[in-house]
Amino acid sequence: MVKLGGYINYMREEINNIKNGAIAQIMSAKDVAELDSIKTAYLGRKGKLNLIIKKLKDLPEDEKKQTGILINEAKDTLIEQIINKKNTFRESVRKWYDPTVPGIEPALGNQHLITQAIDEISAIFTQIGFVRVRYPEAEWDWFAFESLNMPPDHPARDEWETFFIETPSHPKYGKMVLTPHTSNGQIREMQRVGNPPAGGPPIRMINIAKCYRRQSDLTHSQMFHQFEGLVVDKDINITHLKGTIDYFAKKYYGEKAVSRIRPFHFQFTEPSFEVDFSCIHCHGRARLSNGQRCKFCKSGWHEVGGAGMVHPNVLRAGGINPNKYTGFAFGWGVERVRLLKSGTTINDVRNLYSSDLRLLTQY
Ligand code: PHE
Repeated sequence: MVKLGGYINYMREEINNIKNGAIAQIMSAKDVAELDSIKTAYLGRKGKLNLIIKKLKDLPEDEKKQTGILINEAKDTLIEQIINKKNTFRESVRKWYDPTVPGIEPALGNQHLITQAIDEISAIFTQIGFVRVRYPEAEWDWFAFESLNMPPDHPARDEWETFFIETPSHPKYGKMVLTPHTSNGQIREMQRVGNPPAGGPPIRMINIAKCYRRQSDLTHSQMFHQFEGLVVDKDINITHLKGTIDYFAKKYYGEKAVSRIRPFHFQFTEPSFEVDFSCIHCHGRARLSNGQRCKFCKSGWHEVGGAGMVHPNVLRAGGINPNKYTGFAFGWGVERVRLLKSGTTINDVRNLYSSDLRLLTQY
C-alpha cells in the first residue's frame, strides 16, 4: 500500500473537481460538436487534466505515479462519458429514421397530349412510307397563299384569319405571316424534292406544325396544330387519297372506324373534299346500341379537315410538271382528331395550352 501525503489528497480533490465539472458539461451537451469541444478542453494536449501533470514534477516518485493513475482514470471516465453521450445522439437519429415509412414520391411529368398525338400520327404515316418534315411557322405570304392559287386580294383568303408580321415585304414572296395552315409545306416540299435527274417525285410528306389564326373561343385557340399530307407521283388518283384516309382512320381510331369524303372547295385542290370520320361511339349510325341518339356526334360523323387532288397551278408553283405528275393532299387538325379519339368534349380547347396540370395529367 502506498502511503499518500497531503499533496496527493489535494490533487485527488482537484482532479475530482475537474472530472465532475466535465461530466456535468458532457451531460448537458446538445450535440456532437459541443462534446468535441469539451473533449479538447479537458483531454486535449493543453486540456485541464494535462495541465495538472505539469504540477507533478516536484512530487516524490510514488506520489507522482499515484496522481498519474488518478488522472488516467479520470481521462478514461470522461472518454467513456463522451462516447456514451455521443451514442445517445445517434440513437435519436436512429429512432427518427424509420426505413419502413413510404417515401415522398417525386412527381413524374408526362408528355403533353398533343405531343403524344403528334408522335402517334407520325408513326402511323411513317409506316406507309411518309416522311415527317417541318417547315417555317413564320412564313412568306407567297408560300402560305399565293403559290396555293390564292393571289393577293383573293376572297378565298378570308377563310384563314391570318396574323401578319410587321417586317419589310419580300420583293417576290410578299409579307410575312404566322402560318394559318400547314399547306405552305406542300410547296416547300416540292421545291426540296426538285426534279429529275437530280431529284423529283415520288413525294410522301407528312408535315406537322403549329398554326395560328385570329380566333379565340371555346372551340378555337389562336395557336393549334395541323398535319398535312402530300403525295405526288405518276398516276396518283382519288382512290389513293381515299385509301390513305381510311388507313389512318382505322390505325388511329380502331378497325371499326371508317371515313367519308364530301365535295367542297379549296383553291389549291381540284376536286376538293371535306373529310369526316365515323363517331367512335355510334360508328356512323348516330344512334347508340340502346337506340338512343348519340349525343357526341348527333349525325354519326365528325369533320376533321380538308383534302383533295393537288391543283395543277400548285404543282407548277412547286416546280413540278402537272402533265407528268399528279398528287393528293390533306390537312387536318391535331387537336380535333385527338379529342375525337377520347370520345369526350373539353369545355374550352384553350385549356390545352394553359399548363393546367389538373387537365394535362389526365392524359
Ligand atoms: N389547308 C386546309 C385548311 O387549313 C386544309 C387542306 C389541306 C385542304 C390540303 C386541302 C388539301 O383548311
